[in-house]
Amino acid sequence: MMRLATAADLPAVVAIDAADRPAPRPVELFSEALVGRGAALHVYELDDEIVGFAETRVILDEAWLVDIAIAPARRGQGLGRAFLAGLLVDVARRGAESLGLEVRRDNVVAQKLYESMGLQKVGRRRRYYADGEDALLYQGAVGPG
Ligand SMILES: CC(C)(COP(=O)(O)OP(=O)(O)OC[C@H]1O[C@@H](n2cnc3c(N)ncnc32)[C@H](O)[C@@H]1OP(=O)(O)O)[C@@H](O)C(=O)NCCC(=O)NCCS
Repeated sequence: MMRLATAADLPAVVAIDAADRPAPRPVELFSEALVGRGAALHVYELDDEIVGFAETRVILDEAWLVDIAIAPARRGQGLGRAFLAGLLVDVARRGAESLGLEVRRDNVVAQKLYESMGLQKVGRRRRYYADGEDALLYQGAVGPG
């Protein structure tokens, strides 16, 4: 089940995010998305456990998927796909007609997920990440039709 995060969820969000990084990122990075202004932080729960989080932003009719992650032990079980499907519905309700995102070129798992959900590769930002990896840009329509 997907729901909006509260401040009490932030430690779990930071822990899931930290799983893919050499050092945890500061909680402020996520708490800013709790305050609105087009941003939303969602968590995905399974049996009362937070197993994923996602941050989205909607500006006018454009949504941006800032981040999505599933806890490592829970990956490959269809949760990321279900979460993203829910997020696409959510951003459409918030007024978006399209959703865009950036993904590392070496993150093939995420790219397969995005492509299988109807998003298309629309560009590349060379050496976008600190380690020199490129970012691929994806975009797709959301909402009815
Ligand atoms: C990307 C991520 C959210 C996907 O979540 P998930 O729960 O593992 O994904 P799902 O089990 O729903 O699988 C969805 C699709 O992803 C792809 N996928 C999942 N695991 C895969 C693997 N090990 N190898 C290749 N493709 C894979 C498949 O296309 C899969 O669809 P299918 O099962 O119908 O073939 C998750 O791997 C994650 O948290 N990764 C780390 C954070 C991250 O990279 N986020 C994206 C930032 S842009």
